Amino acid sequence: MADYFKLNPEYYQVPWHFTFKGVYLAKYVRKDTLERPELYEIKSDDIFVVSYPKSGTTWTLELAQLIMNKGDPTYSESESHFDRIPFIEFNPERYPKRNGFTAMQNIESPRLLKSHLPIHLFPPQALQMGCKVIFVARNPKDTVVSYYHFYQALPSLYGDYKGDFSGYLKLFVNGQVVYGDWFDHTLGWYNYVEENNGLFLKYEDMKKNPSETTVKIAEYLNCDLSDEIIDEITGRCSFARMKMSKLINFEEVEGRPFLRKGAVGDWKNYFTVSENEAFDEVYNERMKDSRLTFDWE
Ligand code: A3P
Repeated sequence: MADYFKLNPEYYQVPWHFTFKGVYLAKYVRKDTLERPELYEIKSDDIFVVSYPKSGTTWTLELAQLIMNKGDPTYSESESHFDRIPFIEFNPERYPKRNGFTAMQNIESPRLLKSHLPIHLFPPQALQMGCKVIFVARNPKDTVVSYYHFYQALPSLYGDYKGDFSGYLKLFVNGQVVYGDWFDHTLGWYNYVEENNGLFLKYEDMKKNPSETTVKIAEYLNCDLSDEIIDEITGRCSFARMKMSKLINFEEVEGRPFLRKGAVGDWKNYFTVSENEAFDEVYNERMKDSRLTFDWE
């Protein structure tokens, strides 16, 4: 690791964070199911959207849910995104209705489920049963910028981070943000999905080719949809329309919108030239054995 990102261990810690099997996590991630993942009653037709936070998860889930309902928006418009789609490891004190473990028991199959867990903490029976997995990844520079804003938007989950972006970038590079090291997380899932017929999506491709993305997800979920329905779903999930939706761009994010900028390349407004060079050095070293690449603008 470049000395550049050396971090004073006292710099910032999310209140009540804990580390489980090497991964930095927050209190809202339930511990009992990390220790005993067999507690999850997984069904073979469960469909998972998995990601590192801030990679386009909500977007992908909205697309998948509309696709599963053949474009009919009734269910998607019935209640908040966060109440409709169980987030399996989430157990927030403040929103008990969003306890993913119980929520997933109360929806009909096939169930659409969300997780940010790295692969080695993910319930292994879901992988053994061959559940469908859509993994969405985003270039880490835009991811860290989005995450920095998210920390500030949600002090009830992440505490009172008052540092600047440079300090946050150090936390990110050191894997001291919730869900840990981006490289381990992304490469772990990339390798699994490539070898096991999962669907690997990239945020930048989704932005570039939104209709193609909808088609890819529909094909993966074996949903045969007309071009008209594909266009309708793609349009409903545009940044502008999702940002307008009170069911998605939820007001509870303490004073700040959940859908912020939705852009590729915003990192250029945050990284200094030397931060960018040092980050590239870390990136090139950590990704050197992988075929995975990203677009940066
Ligand atoms: P920004 O903070 O860069 O705007 P997640 O759902 O994984 O938390 O990811 C959130 C990021 O995806 C945010 O990025 C958000 O604005 C962006 N996003 C959500 N819906 C989107 C959409 N329909 N089109 C483009 N970006 C979207």
